[in-house]
Amino acid sequence: MADLRIEGYVIVSADGMLADVHRAMPDVLKFEGDKKFFEAALDRADLIIHGRHSHEGQPNSDRRRRIILTRKIPALARDPSEPNATLWNPLGASFEDACAFAGVTSGTVAIIGGPDVFGMFMNRYDTFWLSVAPHVRLPGGEPCFPGVPERTPQEVLAAHGLKAGQSQMLDPAHDVSVTPWRRG
Ligand SMILES: NC(=O)c1ccc[n+]([C@@H]2O[C@H](COP(=O)([O-])OP(=O)(O)OC[C@H]3O[C@@H](n4cnc5c(N)ncnc54)[C@H](OP(=O)(O)O)[C@@H]3O)[C@@H](O)[C@H]2O)c1
Repeated sequence: MADLRIEGYVIVSADGMLADVHRAMPDVLKFEGDKKFFEAALDRADLIIHGRHSHEGQPNSDRRRRIILTRKIPALARDPSEPNATLWNPLGASFEDACAFAGVTSGTVAIIGGPDVFGMFMNRYDTFWLSVAPHVRLPGGEPCFPGVPERTPQEVLAAHGLKAGQSQMLDPAHDVSVTPWRRG
């Protein structure tokens, strides 16, 4: 674990949603600047972790090593339908075992959702990159983290020991920016 750096990535609406009422990521939450930022980060990562519905679907996706959470298997298995993918049920194997099974024991791990998967790593992020689209609202949508919307995403990150760093503008026309929330 000591050699793994854990980073989280999400883009949320002003009301803290990562998906719409149909649990789908709507086009109104997709911005070219954020997509480029996310894509570059995943190209640098040694391992990507996500739930079964949160595949990033980018041109380089097949080249990326990933772990997909699912309850359809007891513990760990190769994914027969995707190269470089490991299936993981946390009830049957630890995170460290899953990383080792995937062949990664050092480097950067990118956690990319959905909400329960983000929640699992809340006490372990070194940095969480929170992108916000302040002019988009998704009433009845899917909250980005457990505990939202009772608390804002920022309050949840702060409650887990993360502190906001310098924001970076990703899309000036829509005021979309990303803020790194770092531990310590
Ligand atoms: N705005 C953003 O940046 C962003 C980021 C991420 C996702 N999204 C969107 O948000 C939606 C997320 O979908 P979702 O809520 O269904 O989340 P998800 O985590 O992608 O998928 C849920 C599935 O993952 C598996 N899973 C999740 N937690 C697990 C656990 N603790 N143990 C074992 N398996 C687990 C289960 O798969 P099985 O059914 O196989 O057991 C579960 O049905 C998608 O539309 C996605 O595009 C948006």
